[in-house]
Amino acid sequence: MPTTAFTAPFIGRRDELARLTQVLDRARTGEARAVLVAGDAGVGKTRMLAEAAGRATAAGTTVVTGHCVDLGDVGLPYLPFTEILGVLAADERFAATVAAHPVAGRLLGDGGSGARDAGGRPQLFEGMAALLAELTSVAPLLLVLEDLHWADQSSRDLLRFLLSRGILAGRGAGQRLAVFASYRADDLHRRHPLRPLLAELVRLPAVERLELRPMPDGEMARLVRAQRTTPVPDATVRRIVERAEGNAFYAEELLAATSEAAGSAPAVPSGLADVLLIRFEQLPPTAQQVLRTAAVAGRRVEHDLLRDTVQLPDEELESALREAVGRQLLVSGGDSGGDDTYSFRHALIREAVYADLLPGERVRLHRAFARVLAGRGRPAESAAERAHHSRESHDLPDALAASLEAADHAGRVRAPAEELHHLEAALDLWSAVPPEARPEGFDTVTLTLRASAAAAHAGETHRAVSLTRAALARVGAEEDSELAARVRYTLAGNLMRTDDLAAAFTYSSEALAMIPADPPSRTWVRAASTHVMAARYMGDAGTARRVAHQALAVAEELGLPDARADLLIS
Ligand SMILES: Nc1ncnc2c1ncn2[C@@H]1O[C@H](COP(=O)(O)OP(=O)(O)OP(=O)(O)O)[C@@H](O)[C@H]1O
Ligand SMILES: [Mg+2]
Repeated sequence: MPTTAFTAPFIGRRDELARLTQVLDRARTGEARAVLVAGDAGVGKTRMLAEAAGRATAAGTTVVTGHCVDLGDVGLPYLPFTEILGVLAADERFAATVAAHPVAGRLLGDGGSGARDAGGRPQLFEGMAALLAELTSVAPLLLVLEDLHWADQSSRDLLRFLLSRGILAGRGAGQRLAVFASYRADDLHRRHPLRPLLAELVRLPAVERLELRPMPDGEMARLVRAQRTTPVPDATVRRIVERAEGNAFYAEELLAATSEAAGSAPAVPSGLADVLLIRFEQLPPTAQQVLRTAAVAGRRVEHDLLRDTVQLPDEELESALREAVGRQLLVSGGDSGGDDTYSFRHALIREAVYADLLPGERVRLHRAFARVLAGRGRPAESAAERAHHSRESHDLPDALAASLEAADHAGRVRAPAEELHHLEAALDLWSAVPPEARPEGFDTVTLTLRASAAAAHAGETHRAVSLTRAALARVGAEEDSELAARVRYTLAGNLMRTDDLAAAFTYSSEALAMIPADPPSRTWVRAASTHVMAARYMGDAGTARRVAHQALAVAEELGLPDARADLLIS
């Protein structure tokens, strides 16, 4: 099998490569060692091994690779070893040695399956160990065994023998040999036949395990940029890095599906979805149903919420969840969730399962979640979630009501960015909901004004200005003058933050002119304070002083210590 030619440069993985290089150095001096490289599909095992192999070759080690292939239950016995022997037999330095060992004939020859795998297994294993020992006296060797998770039973047995009793143990002393074997950690479900072998092997002194973790964001960004000869926009890189979560293959697929024009891949590209859904499709139907439901909930779902929505008997739900966890599609707990939550192991798996839902199914499941959430205690905390599910199931009145509740909750817990988000969602929904279905006591001007205050608190000053301008456009002539004045002084305040001083002064004057100073009111004090500030910024000290004195008196009369303090400062 040809090794893939990599065009893009190799990135990162310094510590891992250093460890492999060290093993290679020691192997060259006669200390035979093996490394089991574990990592999720696409995380970069093959690429890193190719890089290590390049270094090995440069240092004079002969590298031979054997691949295991996914052949279902009809695995070809000894496939990766057959491949390795074939390569060695074709190399003139090794050909004579290979030819002199009957084991090679048995594995490579045309002796049929009887000759391959019959009673002579112990001899075959011993023969293979002896052959390798002799070959390493010709030249230092690195054997790369790729994708052990697909290894056939015979290959697993041979590997067990070679590492535990053959080449690495006892008699292996002095052999110039390294074995690097890769496997997909996420493919190993609980009953996977490779598991017991790995557990056995890592206990051997000459065997170590190297876990290839997801790549850090900075390296992922470099990897994405290195894929193209033309510059990739920062926003595209950021989005891909975020979605790929350290997986090099996912990043490449996402970038490949990103058109230069659109700038982002909207959904999971179909080629990637096919890959992501393989393990999902191997699940029994009930487990698939549970995962589909969980996908609608989001990356993470509480056990109780899932149970109430999926409506399966407890034992069936438990066994479905156990299957999904066993297949490494879900993890229990998750990043920040407690023990009673489940998370998708990778966000893209969730996206792929979600994208695979039928349209009616999607709406039905969102509706089911919205209902369950509405029927639970502590509705304020889950209002944001309910708003999302209601919107996705086209229940716009409930989406509006829930968005407003979510905004209230965010305001109470001092989360202005979230408050802004929910208020904007509510404003979006407003006109789509018939007046009689809207919650009572709200109007768009006040909501827009609230949104602008949230934006200002969240530090989004320009957004705050746009929102107050929108409120100003909405406040009709028939509206009460107090509200109209509030809109104007709020706009003035926001404009001062964006250094638009002249406009600020105009609006604060208008605000002040709209409400009488008598009877004394809070709104008037606020308008006055804003105007004092605008006047000062404009260098109109006379106006500032006059209005400040007047406002101070009213603030004292009304007992408004905050406003009083503000005025005294200015
Ligand atoms: N460190 C890296 N630098 C540059 N490219 C990388 C790096 N790691 C991985 N890639 C690229 O990402 C893609 C996936 O990597 P690779 O094939 O090595 O993954 P894998 O872990 O072997 O996956 P599988 O389990 O499917 O075999 C490849 O195109 C590879 O070239
Ligand atoms: Mg690979």
